Formats: sequence, structure tokens, C-alpha cells
Amino acid sequence: MKIYIINGPNLNMLGIREPDKYGTDTYKSVVEMIDAHCSSLGVTPVFYQSNHEGDLVDKIQEAYFEGAAGIVINPGAYTHTSIALLDAVKSTMLPCVEIHISKVEEREDFRQVSYIRAACIKTITGHGVKGYTEAVDFLIDYLKK
Ligand code: DQA
Repeated sequence: MKIYIINGPNLNMLGIREPDKYGTDTYKSVVEMIDAHCSSLGVTPVFYQSNHEGDLVDKIQEAYFEGAAGIVINPGAYTHTSIALLDAVKSTMLPCVEIHISKVEEREDFRQVSYIRAACIKTITGHGVKGYTEAVDFLIDYLKK
């Protein structure tokens, strides 16, 4: 079973960007952690990070055309702005879990909107980078049902 793990803008800066909010683990180490977790579950992850909205849309569509079982996505700031990402997830009809490292609901007003949430089966916020493995677990449990 293949799942896509998609990260949006500035998540390549993990470990450098605002460590008080996002922790000190680098993007590379987070990918390694998710990869190990997926291996232990017998799941094949496809990782992708981009700072560009259209490239993220392309990757979500690719998940559909490549026969992925589902998507875990941290859309970064595009969470709060992008109808294109919402439409992309809806168009694939794939189960999608939204994850945020920080507790977005306790942050600025502009972070209180999530367009993509309407197309997601679950949202995880504020659990740090552990949230990614929780998102994978939720998706896999959902797919097994
Ligand atoms: C984030 C929260 C977003 O508001 C922010 O723009 C990010 C990261 C998170 O993981 O907590 O880039 O998605």
C-alpha cells in the first residue's frame, strides 16, 4: 500500500524555522522518522515537499493517478489560503489527513481558517512532528475498516 506524505511551503526549513513553534527536528529527520514508521506498518510512503502551490496540486493529482491509498498533508500556510488544494484533494476522492505541527487553533486569527479541512477525514494539530506518525496511523486504521 502506497501513501503520499505531502508538505507545503517552508516545511523544508524545519529545524531552522521558529524552533519554539516547530521544534528542532530537521525536515530530513522527520522524513526518516515517518519512513521508519511506515516500514514497520508495511506501508510505502512517497514523500514530497514544495514551496509552490501548483506543484502541490500536481502531486495530489499524481497520488490519484499512481494509485495511492491516501494522503497525509501539512499544507503549511496554504492551509489558510488555498482553495486549489481543497479542490485537488476533493477531486482525487482519496482519504486525506491534515496535520499541523503547531496548535494552529491557539495562534493568530488568520490561521483559524483551513480550506483543506473540508476534504479531510481528520485533522491533527499541536502534537509536534509526532503528529505525522499519528496521521499515518489514523489513515491506515481508516483504510483497514
Ligand atoms: C503549520 C501551521 C501553519 O499556520 C504555518 O503556516 C506552517 C506550519 C504547522 O505545521 O503548524 O507553515 O502548518
